[in-house]
Amino acid sequence: MPKPIRKAIFPVGGQGTRFLPATKAVPKEMLPVVDRPLLQYAVDEALSAGVEQMIYVTARGKGSLEEYFDIAGELVASLKAKGKAAELALLDSTQLAPGRIAYVRQQEPAGLGHAVWCARLITGDEPFAVLLPDELLWNPAAPALKAMVGVYERHGGNVISVLEVPEAHTHRYGIVDPGAADGLVTEVKGVIEKPKAGTAPSRLAAIGRYILQPEVMGILGEGKRGAGNEIQLTDAMAQLIGRQPFHALTFTGVRHDCGDKAGFINANIALALEREDVGPAVREYLQGVGL
Ligand code: UTP
Repeated sequence: MPKPIRKAIFPVGGQGTRFLPATKAVPKEMLPVVDRPLLQYAVDEALSAGVEQMIYVTARGKGSLEEYFDIAGELVASLKAKGKAAELALLDSTQLAPGRIAYVRQQEPAGLGHAVWCARLITGDEPFAVLLPDELLWNPAAPALKAMVGVYERHGGNVISVLEVPEAHTHRYGIVDPGAADGLVTEVKGVIEKPKAGTAPSRLAAIGRYILQPEVMGILGEGKRGAGNEIQLTDAMAQLIGRQPFHALTFTGVRHDCGDKAGFINANIALALEREDVGPAVREYLQGVGL
């Protein structure tokens, strides 16, 4: 049995330029989908996969994130005084036990690989998960990371989540060079960050969930710059292939790319429609405008 995945890194140091001006003052990860910040969905996913410690790699201007996961004493007291039990219960998942959340600062936005490397002293010699909160992977029945942990328990090594994307979109992603496939699990022979049009080895794109062995930290520590002059996680992962087991699990739910404006709006509509409280009103509105 491989070592359990007890720690998860949430890289939230990005500048979120696609959401300016909102992200001038509000971190992208705090933008709400219906009524929960994006980051909460990723944390819930990690909790359902058995993760014990959440490690947020933050940056300047991300202070509201720490407030959100704190205990809001005055708010709790006032809700209690007013007998608002349902509202109080909504705060439960934001208040993890002391010590279950750690913060580390990424002092410069040098890329996703750099953000992950910033957490190396907390993850130490353990394997860990990485979740990009702006990728909302929606499958309440089989959350993405939980399914990946299942693959990890069978194969060990490294596991990433992938989805088949149209050929014309492969240049936006880390793309897998596939080996043997067994159902939804594909052996990874290589992975290429943002391949030029027409050169992608497959249409299997990495979608923001990773289970990685600690050796990746040593590779990231070399500080090699890749696409966009950033330290790329994909480039470091590529070096583990052949040395350690490496598999990709095709995600079976709905992926909402909430780093993108249209993706974010779609996520709000899709998740609102599933809800008993707001779903009927949203559906009525959409039908009213002929959708
Ligand atoms: P993105 O490529 O979406 O960048 O990062 P971004 O800055 O968040 O958003 P845009 O493109 O400017 O609108 C993917 C993930 O990697 C994190 C981001 O926070 C996001 O979760 N990231 C990226 C870092 O933590 N640090 C970085 O230096 C870069």
